[in-house]
Amino acid sequence: MSDIRSLGALGTFQTVHVPLGDRAYDVRIGEGLVALAGAHIAPLLGKKKRVCVITEENVAALHLDTLRGGLAAAGIEMEALVLPAGESTKCWAELNKSVEWLLAQKVERKDVVVAFGGGVIGDLAGFAASILRRGVRFVQIPTSLLAQVDSSVGGKTGINSPAAGKNLIGAFHQPSLVLADVSVLGTLTSRDFLSGCGEVVKYGMLGDEAFFEWLEANGPLMAAGDVAARTYAVKRSVEMKAEIVVRDETEQGDRALLNLGHTFCHALEAATGYSDRLFHGEGVAIGCALAYELSARLGLCSQEAPSRVRAQIKAMGMKCDLKDIEGDLPSAEALVDLMAQDKKVLDGQLRFILARSIGESFVTSDVPREAVLSVIEDALREC
Ligand code: GLY
Repeated sequence: MSDIRSLGALGTFQTVHVPLGDRAYDVRIGEGLVALAGAHIAPLLGKKKRVCVITEENVAALHLDTLRGGLAAAGIEMEALVLPAGESTKCWAELNKSVEWLLAQKVERKDVVVAFGGGVIGDLAGFAASILRRGVRFVQIPTSLLAQVDSSVGGKTGINSPAAGKNLIGAFHQPSLVLADVSVLGTLTSRDFLSGCGEVVKYGMLGDEAFFEWLEANGPLMAAGDVAARTYAVKRSVEMKAEIVVRDETEQGDRALLNLGHTFCHALEAATGYSDRLFHGEGVAIGCALAYELSARLGLCSQEAPSRVRAQIKAMGMKCDLKDIEGDLPSAEALVDLMAQDKKVLDGQLRFILARSIGESFVTSDVPREAVLSVIEDALREC
């Protein structure tokens, strides 16, 4: 599904096509795509050469002028709404603000909204686009590694419920184009980049041993800033996500594989109050290590697999263990109770993504609570 192109004003980029019938789109991955955004977006526009951009303050300070210039180079005007940075922006108030702003900008059905930021902005702006006039098109320009390899692809959009939890209010709304500019990754803090790596290593573990091996060899290079390695990692991750989304767009089955590590992660995020104590991708990496430990204890995969997983996570400089989370954590019982409140609980049963080997995962609800408890108790004992 991917190829490499160098097309004049469009620059040099690699494409992963997401073949979803009349909702099909390209994910274009390359250097400098923000500065070339106008040439990429122009074919989506009608007579009105104008886009409305939703972004956040940190991304705006670093990259909004580049985007404005890149759009202007193709004769496209830009209006921008700059929201506060951070997870708390994924709320009703900011959604309301965004939708009213888009209406005030007279955005119509044929227009294009641009989501310019990390996962929070992509989810919020995508959801705003999905409900505005019963759905307008939108383009994702993800600026975090996590958004480039995961949240900008696949059409999940939404906000958090203040009472019930994360991502519980939303819609499937596929973007019309995704522009993943790997140059902007160079402006991320090391912690932000490494957090995104949690979602990258997840792909190798869940479905591609060769990619896992590539990361064993090249992960540290990628973490150190090598652009070719970063481009390959983003492309391979997006290819894998696209394949799964095409098989199961609305998560009736296989798409749940993308949640490897997430049952543990969501409990840890809830236990740390969705705060800076734990970034999402950090929780995913720790959750993947715990999911492999659980799989090995249940006799599903070899005893060596969890050590290999942990070695890879550590070699890239990522958080790997519960002891890497600052501050106190609740008891194992309390953490398992938090898992039971996760939205992925089905008919009251905890659902896990477990592994038969590195690169082979599956979804199951058949996991004894005692086994989960004992894995967490042992992990807490090392804190
Ligand atoms: N982030 C998981 C998914 O898109 O399904």
